[in-house]
Amino acid sequence: MPNAMITGWGKCVPPAVLTNDDLATFIETSDEWIRTRTGIKQRHISHVNTSELATVAAKRALAAAGIDGSELDMIILATATPDTLVPNIAATVQANVGASCAAFDINAACSGFLYGSGLATAQIESGQCKKVLVIGAERLTFMIDWSRRETAVLFGDGAGAAVFEATEEDCGVKAYALNNDPEGREILKASFGTGMDRFDPKSLDFYIQFDGQEIFKRAINGMKKLSAQVLERCGVEKEDVDIVIPHQANERIIDTLVAKMRIPKEKAFVNIANYGNTSAATVPIAICDAIEQGRLKPNQTILSCAFGAGLTSAAMLLKW
Ligand code: ACO
Repeated sequence: MPNAMITGWGKCVPPAVLTNDDLATFIETSDEWIRTRTGIKQRHISHVNTSELATVAAKRALAAAGIDGSELDMIILATATPDTLVPNIAATVQANVGASCAAFDINAACSGFLYGSGLATAQIESGQCKKVLVIGAERLTFMIDWSRRETAVLFGDGAGAAVFEATEEDCGVKAYALNNDPEGREILKASFGTGMDRFDPKSLDFYIQFDGQEIFKRAINGMKKLSAQVLERCGVEKEDVDIVIPHQANERIIDTLVAKMRIPKEKAFVNIANYGNTSAATVPIAICDAIEQGRLKPNQTILSCAFGAGLTSAAMLLKW
């Protein structure tokens, strides 16, 4: 059975930056509150649609893999903020990269990139596909009520992409686990509103709303449980994990997660300070940054995990 290996990666973060101090000029907050509660220092704000961010990340990932868009067998685009509901925005990216293949969006919120990576792995392992592009892309700042400090400080825009290719080598995805806890579906949501609400830009339904403390607890439990599952499936001890690449929603969540898993804090990759929470894009952006910083080396064991609205959770174990 072939393995699914990441051969290319790319990210796109829009150039406009909104710092914590910038936010404090129009809502009652402070750099100190945001940094100490979340680890965030700034976020990037996009003036273009999610598909455009996704296209740039995709082109960079294809270039890094050294392949042409026409070679792709499938494009999976994870997003909760598509520019259009139909057609799916994977179709837009597909047209932009010159691909002719299966293409679809998935919405598993912040777990979306790992959900997509799991689907890509299954396609490659079953022999259905040889080259699959997985993208996590979001324009979350479009869904923020900028007058509500509870949510306005947390999110940012961006995209990350990875090319998965079939290989006979002993590397790539070793195991993945996906889950959803429906009891948590009400604690994090953004809807289209109901009835005439949907045409009212002030309708609260339209904006991201959540119960932060409940998410905090459930996120740690969900990621810990699924991480344990993938480690057990592969017979890998947590001591053998070289680096943890978690979803970046809050630095304190990451610290608590690795502490509970008894993994040294230095092994967790954290870049939330620069981007805030970019939902489905956090994991692929973190992979790119870890590579740029020389943190990923051949044969290393990487554990990635995420959680998001649903409440979804996901984990993946890779040999780099
Ligand atoms: N600036 C200043 N004060 C603030 C801000 C802000 N931006 N936001 C809230 N506060 C105030 C509150 O009004 C409250 O004041 P009070 O004590 O006078 O009532 C006080 O700070 C404490 O508020 P809490 O909501 O209890 O703060 P908490 O410590 O729980 O931190 C946070 C909030 C950061 C959202 C945290 O709960 C969290 O990280 N949760 C998990 C992550 C999350 O929910 N992410 C969004 C979902 S997306 C995802 O990735 C799944």
